[in-house]
Amino acid sequence: MGLMHILRIYLKLVLRLKNEQIDIIKIGGSIITNKSEYRTLRKKQLLLLSKELAKWEKKCIIIHGAGSFGHTVANQYSIHLGFSNQNQLKGILQIRKDMLELTEAVTHSLVENGVNALSFQTSAIVFENEGGFSFHFNPVKKALSLGFCPILSGDVLFTEAKGFRIFSGDALIRLLVQHFDVGRVIFISDVDGLFLQDPETKEDKLVSSLTTNDFENVEIGELNQDDSKDVTGEMRGKIEEIKSILEHTSEVILVNGFHPERLTLVREGDKFVGTTIINENST
Ligand code: IPE
Repeated sequence: MGLMHILRIYLKLVLRLKNEQIDIIKIGGSIITNKSEYRTLRKKQLLLLSKELAKWEKKCIIIHGAGSFGHTVANQYSIHLGFSNQNQLKGILQIRKDMLELTEAVTHSLVENGVNALSFQTSAIVFENEGGFSFHFNPVKKALSLGFCPILSGDVLFTEAKGFRIFSGDALIRLLVQHFDVGRVIFISDVDGLFLQDPETKEDKLVSSLTTNDFENVEIGELNQDDSKDVTGEMRGKIEEIKSILEHTSEVILVNGFHPERLTLVREGDKFVGTTIINENST
């Protein structure tokens, strides 16, 4: 084997390593917090997930939601409507305090279980201008390349037009996939996946796999999910985020975090209870 040949193989390997696609994993607030009780952490659930994520082989960025550490106070002070009065500042301070606590709990649990988890505060590196977002992802990129697993979260974002807004973890992912080489986005939440109504039996059925084309043809009205109807709205909103995320990734996975063994199967590339949406246009 000639030296040039060996060099070529080496260069290919280096290139492949350099171009390694990452996974983005979103841990929904519904899974690590009790959404109906202010600032309640589901410690056991977080521990089980951390153990699972410690075995993740691919490089990844982990995004966690807010659950009752964010939404409760955000609603109380109408943070989602933007700035209207000075009193809202108190709300934002409280959310910052609570979210720091949640991020610290998530990061600590991951580190304890062997993940090189390093947190970044989303609103410190992302801003919304009139015409789009400005952001500074270089620290996250460098940390990732050094072997850290960056942790980010949904946050109260400062915006040019309205002062501030709620920026969900899903919206953050939508931005990240445009600027990182992301192979898969995995949403860990408290639902099994995507449910579609069977037109004949009218029963809701979990769809295990579908393509972006199938997905495009899915009528939002047909979408449903297993248990509580009041969160259906959340799932509908998510569909739009997923559609846009799929423009930049090859796969989106929806899996129920209350069954960590399903995550093991996702990690090992085996069949699992959940939904995989494949972008058939990606190579
Ligand atoms: C919301 O983030 C952020 C705040 C309310 C500060 P997410 O919308 O991603 O949180 P979950 O996953 O729905 O709880």
